[in-house]
Amino acid sequence: NWTTGNVIDEQVAAIREQVGDKRAICGLSGGVDSAVAAALVQKAIGSQLTCVYVDHGLMRKGETEQVEKDFVAATGVQLKVVDAEERFLTALAGVSDPEQKRKIIGREFIRVFEQAQAEIIADEGPEVAFLVQGTLYPDVVESGGGTGTANIKSHHNVGGLPEDLEFQLIEPLRKLFKDEVRMVGQELGLPDEIVQRQPFPGPGLGIRIVGEVTKDRLDLLREADAIAREELTAAGLDREIWQCPVVLLADVRSVGVQGDGRTYGHPIVLRPVSSEDAMTADWSRLPYDVLAKISTRITNEVADVNRVVLDVTSKPPGTIEWE
Ligand code: XMP
Repeated sequence: NWTTGNVIDEQVAAIREQVGDKRAICGLSGGVDSAVAAALVQKAIGSQLTCVYVDHGLMRKGETEQVEKDFVAATGVQLKVVDAEERFLTALAGVSDPEQKRKIIGREFIRVFEQAQAEIIADEGPEVAFLVQGTLYPDVVESGGGTGTANIKSHHNVGGLPEDLEFQLIEPLRKLFKDEVRMVGQELGLPDEIVQRQPFPGPGLGIRIVGEVTKDRLDLLREADAIAREELTAAGLDREIWQCPVVLLADVRSVGVQGDGRTYGHPIVLRPVSSEDAMTADWSRLPYDVLAKISTRITNEVADVNRVVLDVTSKPPGTIEWE
């Protein structure tokens, strides 16, 4: 019979057996899966695990702190944070094309992560042999069920490491569905903000700015997004909606009137959707008073935004994200 307690006990025993006296690395993304996978492995092997969090500067307000402070406080995990904001912003400078942005963010992410891995191996020695991944059951089915090793090519020569680092994978969530992962995370004492987090794309706010990604634009979008999230939570709507991307139309300006006079600012798009699996989605019929509150607060509190618009497109034809 399935209980979260059984799953945890089983996995802890299996991970201890698999890892022995070697060491493991786990990348944290801020999302549920990597957090729960890391917490499970931490419970099993404690200080033999090192987590890596790449701060690409594209996270929402408070999310990096959630990993740095709350996750560490809840698990006692050893965490290496790499502040790579400047590197990502430099790589993204002048780029507006969505696919181009995704490629750049993905490429930089792998480079930064591999460099962090190489540094950990340089510090901790060749007994670092395992890589933890938050693969879920639906991912296993989709990809044909294989498991095994990750072959990491190191582009960076850190302290005479081998060119190819081979890791064995630890995938403690391979038999679980998302709701089960959440229950396990809760049982392990992870904060609600992490365990109940709605989906958020790996490229982060980088694909929620239509136009070039800059620090100022990111800061502006972070403010608008934080207001929308705060009001949706206050209205008790978090479980009802699948997610609500907040998008900055950075290349669009419209005329408005605010305070003493005419403004020429940017629109913010709200994209609340309901969905079962993100393959299809419908736009959420949010209460007008909640929408009104979000709109008023964003236009009052976020400089350079003078209009809030609601996306009423289902998927298909629209995707959930704008890029
Ligand atoms: P779309 O926009 O394709 O999004 O309807 C479907 C779901 O996937 C999320 N999404 C991503 N997640 N990396 C991710 O990890 C990505 O590059 C990415 N793009 C979209 C999106 O938030 C939605 O939940």
